[in-house]
Amino acid sequence: LKVDASSQLARKIPDTLFGMFFEEINHAGAGGIWAELVSNRGFEAGGLHTPSNIDPWSIIGDDASIFVATDRTSCFSRNNIEDGKTYNLVMYVKSAEAADLTVSLASSDGLQKLASVTVPVAGTSNWTKVEQKLIAKGTNRTSRLQITSNKKGVVWFDQVSLMPSDTFKGHGFRTELISMLLDLKPRFLRFPGGCFVEGEWLRNAFRWRESIGPWEERPGHFGDVWHYWTDDGLGYYEFLQLSEDLGAAPIWVFNNGISHNDEVSTAAIAPFVKDVLDSLEFARGSANSTWGSVRAAMGHPEPFPVKYVAIGNEDCGKKYYLGNYLKFYNAIRESYPDIQMISNCDGSSKPLDHPADLYDFHVYTDSKTLFNMKGTFDKTSRTGPKAFVSEYAVWRTDAGRGSLLGSLAEAAFLTGLEKNSDIVQMASYAPLFVNDNDQTWNPDAIVFNSWQQYGTPSYWMQKFFRESSGAMIHPITISSSYSGSLAASAITWQDSRNSFLKVKIVNFGSDTVSLTISVSGLQASINALGSNATVLTSSNVKDENSFSNPNKVVPVTSQLQNAAEQMQVTLAAHSFSSFDLAL
Ligand code: AHR
Repeated sequence: LKVDASSQLARKIPDTLFGMFFEEINHAGAGGIWAELVSNRGFEAGGLHTPSNIDPWSIIGDDASIFVATDRTSCFSRNNIEDGKTYNLVMYVKSAEAADLTVSLASSDGLQKLASVTVPVAGTSNWTKVEQKLIAKGTNRTSRLQITSNKKGVVWFDQVSLMPSDTFKGHGFRTELISMLLDLKPRFLRFPGGCFVEGEWLRNAFRWRESIGPWEERPGHFGDVWHYWTDDGLGYYEFLQLSEDLGAAPIWVFNNGISHNDEVSTAAIAPFVKDVLDSLEFARGSANSTWGSVRAAMGHPEPFPVKYVAIGNEDCGKKYYLGNYLKFYNAIRESYPDIQMISNCDGSSKPLDHPADLYDFHVYTDSKTLFNMKGTFDKTSRTGPKAFVSEYAVWRTDAGRGSLLGSLAEAAFLTGLEKNSDIVQMASYAPLFVNDNDQTWNPDAIVFNSWQQYGTPSYWMQKFFRESSGAMIHPITISSSYSGSLAASAITWQDSRNSFLKVKIVNFGSDTVSLTISVSGLQASINALGSNATVLTSSNVKDENSFSNPNKVVPVTSQLQNAAEQMQVTLAAHSFSSFDLAL
């Protein structure tokens, strides 16, 4: 494997190349990264055919004598309550007669009380906001929040919330999940979906306006594509905040008047266009502007730097896509000339018939096909808009619940994107998260439940690429009888102290391969001290991680004693290796 590391043939990779796509799918947000422990906190959760209900709350105690006015109630189970941790309770209560309410964190059978507080409610027809801190005196992985009264009578509740007090930066995000994201150094965050943005029907699509302002006032909505209710605590503002907290450029995917089953005609799209312009003013406007002032009131007077928007998701070819697209495109270009706009139409093999800065490219396929797709952008025209590979993954037949095999094919595909990063500007794996209690889409990069999390091999694979954004890419050639099952790339990059040459090689085949890596054209010599080899492999290519064995397939780093301009390396069968050579 020859690397020409001379500066003449080097090319800078875009600073934005590798980032993340966050979709509200698999309870990635509600019941996931958003740390709220209560579901349906306003008792308004609905579904396709039930516009409002209070599921998953339910009656505890003597249900023969307890009458719940809204049909059903329940306490949210499957929560992790940790010993010594503080939980902030907020709820709104109204009762015509005075009563003492006891709010507890209990085991799912109600027998073990981890924390309890008694709240007197005065007899009044006004709503009262109750705020309490509950400090857990024990740990329970399947805990519930329960509310009981010392008297019979009518008590009204609304907006019952329980948040752990130790969320990331106090912004409401689960710290341990955020740290897994930070480890990948994402350069952008595409949000909030996917199909979640579209909805099966427009009435159930994500609406940014309904997801901002005080959380108590957000109506929430039923995501009908992935079939669950979200209180929209993780709303448009919180997504922008999340981008900032991750140091990632926000990419706002907005609904373009098209869902899976219905469309707004171009003749009627004007209010939707205005709505999107308002969303941009909310993000970017000064604190004195109409919508910027709403953002400022929420605690962020400085604008959020939205520089990219996607006009819909996977809607190219639908009846009103192009017409609607052009209305959005022209209006945004006029008001925000610097915003880059992403079309849903694939321009990788033929030019687009409409203006765009980037086009979306999605691929979910089997491992062999994705491995072979590493050259997808080799022949793409260099003059048109750039590609945004905003969703890629191996799925179905050989994906398992996230296998080594899938991750190797994905890694090969990414080396192809690095090489074509003069035309590919961004790429992100999908989906990012799955709550193990409700998996809609398989596989995913990060699996979690109420108290544990692990990365699938696809997660760890992405870590090999975290230095690529903004690095220099160098030409390589491979001459080997195994070259058909190899994929590789070489970059130089630097951290705050040192420079490195990083050679990544995927061995997709079932034979061990010996290679000589020869590097020419370096300005500095390779230093064995500080040089490492990191390998992702396992005894079986179908191996996966799990809660019981989260580290079965994870990268292993060792010192590279023989690091030099010419060095012999051995690639294990079905492996991904990164040779990090200190300069
Ligand atoms: O990533 C899951 C789904 O796949 C996304 O919502 C959609 O864009 C694609 O079809």
